[in-house]
Amino acid sequence: MENLTNLDLMIDPALKVPDENNEEKFLNNPIVTLGPITKQYLKSVKNYITDGNRFVFSDGASKVQISVISDEIIRVRMAPQGTFLADFSYAINPYDHIITEVKFTETELQYLIATPKVTCAVTKADFLISFIDRNGNLMSSDAKPMHYEENVQFGGYYVYCSKTCQATEDFYALGDKATEFNLRGKRQVLWNTDTYAFAKNQDPLYRSIPFYMSLNKGYCYGIFYDNTFKTHYDFAVESHDCTSFWSDGGELNYYYIHGPQMVDVVKRYSMLTGTHQMPPMWALGFHQCRWSYYPDKKVKQIANTFREKKIPCDAIYLDIDYMNGYRCFTWNDRYFPDPKQLLTELDEIGFKTVVIIDPGIKVDDNYWVFKEGKANNYFCRRCDDYFMEGNVWPGRCQFPDFTNPKVREWWGGLFQGLLDAGVDGVWNDMNEPAVFGSGSFPDDVRHNFDHHRGSHRKAHNVYGMQMVRATYEGLQKLQKNKRPFTITRAGYSGVQRYSSVWTGDNVASWEHLKLANVMCQRLSISGISFCGTDIGGFTGEPDGELFTRWIQLGVFTPLMRAHSAGDTREREPWSFGEPFESICRKFIELRYKLLPYLYSAFWQHYKYHMPVLRPVIMLEPNEQINHYREDEFSFGDSILICPVLQPGITNRKVYLPKGTWYDYWNNQKYKGGKEFVINTPLDSMPIFVKAGASVPEYPVMQYVNEVELEFLTLKTWYSEMEEKSIIYEDHGENFAYKLDIYLEKTITVRGTNGSFVMEQTMFGMYTPRYEKYEHIVYGLPFKVKKVVVDGKEMKKYSVDATNVLSFTTTKQFKKIEILA
Ligand code: GLC
Repeated sequence: MENLTNLDLMIDPALKVPDENNEEKFLNNPIVTLGPITKQYLKSVKNYITDGNRFVFSDGASKVQISVISDEIIRVRMAPQGTFLADFSYAINPYDHIITEVKFTETELQYLIATPKVTCAVTKADFLISFIDRNGNLMSSDAKPMHYEENVQFGGYYVYCSKTCQATEDFYALGDKATEFNLRGKRQVLWNTDTYAFAKNQDPLYRSIPFYMSLNKGYCYGIFYDNTFKTHYDFAVESHDCTSFWSDGGELNYYYIHGPQMVDVVKRYSMLTGTHQMPPMWALGFHQCRWSYYPDKKVKQIANTFREKKIPCDAIYLDIDYMNGYRCFTWNDRYFPDPKQLLTELDEIGFKTVVIIDPGIKVDDNYWVFKEGKANNYFCRRCDDYFMEGNVWPGRCQFPDFTNPKVREWWGGLFQGLLDAGVDGVWNDMNEPAVFGSGSFPDDVRHNFDHHRGSHRKAHNVYGMQMVRATYEGLQKLQKNKRPFTITRAGYSGVQRYSSVWTGDNVASWEHLKLANVMCQRLSISGISFCGTDIGGFTGEPDGELFTRWIQLGVFTPLMRAHSAGDTREREPWSFGEPFESICRKFIELRYKLLPYLYSAFWQHYKYHMPVLRPVIMLEPNEQINHYREDEFSFGDSILICPVLQPGITNRKVYLPKGTWYDYWNNQKYKGGKEFVINTPLDSMPIFVKAGASVPEYPVMQYVNEVELEFLTLKTWYSEMEEKSIIYEDHGENFAYKLDIYLEKTITVRGTNGSFVMEQTMFGMYTPRYEKYEHIVYGLPFKVKKVVVDGKEMKKYSVDATNVLSFTTTKQFKKIEILA
């Protein structure tokens, strides 16, 4: 057998990154046609080479590279003609993965690459790849050898992979599909598409997240298929025992992500593709949007009404009409004669302003952005060198090539003027990219692809992600130490490193409320925790009940933004009168109370890769009954949400996972593992807290930092089992947390019949400004006789008629003993 050590020898030098001056030469190379189309399957393995943790097997023509990324992640690449493309990915985030040991062995029938957690086997006779856990369980195996087909029009190959599928196997994730949560029995396509008023089961939608998980009898693995071309999935449709994915071009390049728990797979996918940064705290408040609030007086009137009606809100949005003729980075001086003054006034009453910026730049030689883009050759061009032109809001437009690092840098700098006017956040829309009439760019549009060049077929799915990356990185540079806030419609795996995401132009219907719930959970387990939907439905008219139920769900989506199309009736939390207004207020207030809890959940996402929303199937993957339960989810570690998604119902069945739960509203205790019927009057929604949870709460504020905190409320629910809760605090707006200037507190509790002990440990260098905790303890199974804090008996505490205990301690307490 050959034993080369330098795998780079195998990369065709012509495919290596060209130097920049040579770029045009490469781009103008004629398209080569490659002969008749036939599907080619890998044949028997003829030889292999090894190089550290990389192994390359060949059938004489094609090559397959298998590399160990970590003990639990193994990457597979297939080069149909034996030449790997230069290795480049927009999705993968640098991360120190741990590789303990890799063993390579050859048996009579196969090659084995083993880490302490998983073994990858390659059969010699038919080149089938499988993954086996350390107990010998077969997690995943090829149903047929990887295969490919020449693309005579563009060059390159269609590439295919098929995995066997068991009768009990189900499938999850894939980003933003508007269909049932479990993807078994479905075909899906990834091709970013502007889908106004999308319908249930419509596909593809706005984002492409090529990551799915298989769950079979509690065992989970994931496949992240890092290919940016149009990609197709078949989850046991064509054949009930086979799941396939394939693309219209590029390399077959996937990562097998080992579990065995679903939560492990989700976390490892996040390690591969990155997480959101900590959002500015205000971005977790309520956002009010509409297409569009104008002129300036209208914006002020809306903001003032929030304050008069005492409905908390942190952000107001300016949709496209704030611009001059929809020219990005300009203001319409008739509607907004003095933006700085307006934004200052909004800021004075605690409103942040978020403005929309689309990718289409109006073709207008008197418009500075167009002139700069044109002079510097920043706009996309067709294969024959004409500019890519298409109509969007401003009329005829050209489009920056955001896959060019120079263009991203230029774009990032364009935000200076908006920031000077006082803008706080940026909303990137239409970045699939959307073009009126044709839908998007034609396939032949050329892209820089960070000097790796590509047609639009390759760059389409990453265009929006690179746009919002340019926006985010620009804001970060200009705002220095202040955390940017961005929201995007389109994206590809890894987009979470640069932005929050909303699900696009949904509809005001009960069916869409259900979809909103499923889509946010799906996004969350697909690496995109900071997600939300247009509360109320973008198009169409919700009635007061639907809007109110959507606000209730929205409290528990990480991004909470109400938005509506311009041709709909007014859509603010007060627009439906009473009792809807009061109920919306009550729930938005709940969001504000739970801000420190949500912020802590974000920290757990950023630091420990936990998704913020956790579907019930992730909590109890062994329970087959949960495979089709899609409406309930855990919001952070300890709060279970059972939203009301149907009109007119006065109760609903909820399933509580095993363990003890308390009703958040009345503290009634439940033993989980079964279903209960819970009343659902319009002013309520079933919310349960896990026994042993310590949930931090703020007092209601009209906006983040409205008042200085005097104390933090800590609500704790009794548990016999030991339970831990994490509370995270930091400055809220800057990047000091990256230098360890934060405080991570762990509250550990455990109870017996005669005592309940709460202990606090702290890590980090941040000092909150409040001094005290106000403790409220629920569910104590005994009459309290004594409360001892750090060895000292407390004189003052109170117990109400329902045995709820309240007392105050310093924020530094170490140990509280509540004794019978
Ligand atoms: C798109 C967006 C929508 C926005 C509208 C006008 O339809 O999805 O949110 O309001 O464009 O900018």
